[in-house]
Amino acid sequence: MKSRAVLAVAACVALCTAAAMQAQAQEIDAARARQGWVLNCMGCHTADGSGIPGKVPALRESLGHFVALPEGRQFVMRVPGASNSALNDADLANVLNWLLATMNEQSRPASFKPYTAEEIAAHRRPALSDVARTRLKLVKELQENGIDAVPEHY
Ligand code: HEC
Repeated sequence: MKSRAVLAVAACVALCTAAAMQAQAQEIDAARARQGWVLNCMGCHTADGSGIPGKVPALRESLGHFVALPEGRQFVMRVPGASNSALNDADLANVLNWLLATMNEQSRPASFKPYTAEEIAAHRRPALSDVARTRLKLVKELQENGIDAVPEHY
């Protein structure tokens, strides 16, 4: 009897864990994100997100650091390329979450909560008009926190 109860609990834990993992996996629609990236971002940021030296910043292992700062979390969606893109709020959230999951695995804080369409809708506009100044302030803030992985100049 006792072992049956243990089995039942074990089965429940296994099922619940599987359900939770599935829910997490479903948060990002990778195929849709890739399509959004290709059509709206990749032309400038390049296929693997490395950017173009002197012109376009890399998005690899930098966004993860930005989103750790409250203002940085908004910065990422308010840069003109993201803010003004043709992507709707849900698709922009999905693309950003995908970038954080696929190109920023190392830098993304463990506590990172995925962007939602509601959050994007509330903050993506207006697009930043002083990107360089806002960015420099964030990079300095990261440096003060001991993180120098995001270059001041790209
Ligand atoms: C027309 C070229 C272009 C397109 C298209 C574009 N970007 Fe950008 N992006 C830039 C440039 C240039 C910057 C540097 C800041 C600035 O001048 O706007 C930048 C900056 C960024 C940054 C800040 C990174 C940093 O280190 O400062 C993020 C995040 C970003 N873009 C995301 C996106 C996303 C997501 C898309 C697609 C929805 C996108 N961009 C589309 C050119 C582009």
